[in-house]
Amino acid sequence: MTIQWFPGHMTRAKRQIQDKLKLIDLAIELLDARVPLSSRNPMIEEILNGKPRLIVLNKSDLADPRTTEQWMAYFASEGHECVAVDSSTGTRVGEIPMKAKEILHEKIARQAAKGMNPRAVRGLIVGIPNVGKSTLINRLAGRNIALTGDRPGITKGQQWIKVGTEMELLDTPGILWPKFEDELVGYRLAMIGSIREQVLNVDDIAFFAVRELAGRYWNTLAERYELDAPPKDAADSEEIVRVMEDIGRRRGCLISGGRVDLEKTSGIILRDLRAGKLGRITLEAPPY
Ligand code: G4P
Repeated sequence: MTIQWFPGHMTRAKRQIQDKLKLIDLAIELLDARVPLSSRNPMIEEILNGKPRLIVLNKSDLADPRTTEQWMAYFASEGHECVAVDSSTGTRVGEIPMKAKEILHEKIARQAAKGMNPRAVRGLIVGIPNVGKSTLINRLAGRNIALTGDRPGITKGQQWIKVGTEMELLDTPGILWPKFEDELVGYRLAMIGSIREQVLNVDDIAFFAVRELAGRYWNTLAERYELDAPPKDAADSEEIVRVMEDIGRRRGCLISGGRVDLEKTSGIILRDLRAGKLGRITLEAPPY
């Protein structure tokens, strides 16, 4: 899904989420485990305004497990509960209702002390497009929910989805925008396929991807495409283009005169990367 975010859309999206916050006990902030910073909304603290929150690192099946552990420790050090899941298979998704109850245990205990029957914890999933909100909602619901209102500016009747007996979710997630005025954020999101390629050029995204991977993940790249020499200097554009040409030759992407078809090569690199064929990759480490 591509959304053109204009200032008006952002204001409306923010208001919609803030209206929904009145109905819920807890926000579930969904981030992409490969880019926890770039998939984060720049105004999240302001928007959630102190609402209890569970951070969920989604697509952890595609992310570097060691760095995911570091992110979990980082969020814990910031006082947040965090769980890393794979919504496409459901791995560790079952921890979400448990963690939600843990976060709200004081509120639940206060209600019990007043003799109130504990009701299901009410949650709202929030996150940028493509982070996996619908997939996670369907996974938690145990069935496919038609998300007809899944766009900013379009409203429909809210419905609660039961997640077991102890949690309920609003069926329409809160859609947030990324910090797209930051070029690096734009490229990282494009690289993992969260920004459609109409916005940025395929060759540029693949160039960016190879440059990012050439350092920390060179071995995976070399293994996949049978490459010999790593670039001497990953900051040197010519060196990166040379690596792309090597990949193109290995994959038989040639045009007349034996030149490498860079566009076709770029498509292959990005498809492999997004499908996890270049291994489990995380592009951002915690900021300490
Ligand atoms: P959104 O509502 O936040 O916009 O995201 P959505 O659930 O539509 O998910 C976006 C894409 O990410 C989908 O792939 C979905 O299958 C995939 N996805 C979601 N969660 C996970 C996860 O934990 N791991 C992996 N590997 N993928 C995940 P798609 O290619 O757009 O669609 P499709 O191939 O599933 O049909």
